[in-house]
Amino acid sequence: MTKQKFASESLTTMTEMVLPNDTNTLNNLMGGRLLHLMDICAAITAQKHSNRVVVTASVDNVSFSAPIPLGSVVTLRSWVTRAFNSSMEVYIEVHAENIPAGERLMSNKAFFTFVAVDQLGRPIDVPAAVPQTDEEKALFDSALRRRQLRLVLAGRLKPQDATELRALFELETA
Ligand SMILES: CC(C)(COP(=O)(O)OP(=O)(O)OC[C@H]1O[C@@H](n2cnc3c(N)ncnc32)[C@H](O)[C@@H]1OP(=O)(O)O)[C@@H](O)C(=O)NCCC(=O)NCCS
Repeated sequence: MTKQKFASESLTTMTEMVLPNDTNTLNNLMGGRLLHLMDICAAITAQKHSNRVVVTASVDNVSFSAPIPLGSVVTLRSWVTRAFNSSMEVYIEVHAENIPAGERLMSNKAFFTFVAVDQLGRPIDVPAAVPQTDEEKALFDSALRRRQLRLVLAGRLKPQDATELRALFELETA
């Protein structure tokens, strides 16, 4: 197995147009439809990084800040911020564009966690992710804190063992 890969090797972009079947009764993109697109884009990213079948383990903090109207062009962009053992954190951002009006806005950001699995669905190790740009480095550095927070919330890590989180709070209250 390749021991490490650049974060950029997993970069994935997906572009879709919002059509009538994608919308709610206000003619805006349905949240569930957007989550579906985000899950697909992020899964492709995790597959590119691991060259494995991957499953979604968790999705963090998706908020819908602005409606995306019918006819908009939605662009999703994702990459692996950091890989642990069998799991990978994927950052994804979504932009919505009204091309005729020349308008573009960032509509969502989220972190997905995928786990690479073997033919029997058992977790299997993945290559390390190596950041290169400043943005990739910043997301790599903060990934351990996010991992600990999501594992605490999932009941998989005791709060007292979340050393990175504790360090953050101790730093802020010092
Ligand atoms: C994700 C899954 C493979 C983990 O299996 P498991 O038996 O709990 O395996 P482990 O305890 O060894 O954990 C494996 C990895 O998953 C990570 N993980 C497990 N649950 C997690 C969660 N809720 N959030 C983030 N990461 C999680 C662990 O931290 C571990 O990461 P690491 O190997 O990088 O340290 C298993 O729970 C699963 O198959 N879930 C269903 C996935 C699915 O069907 N998704 C689609 C939903 S419709």
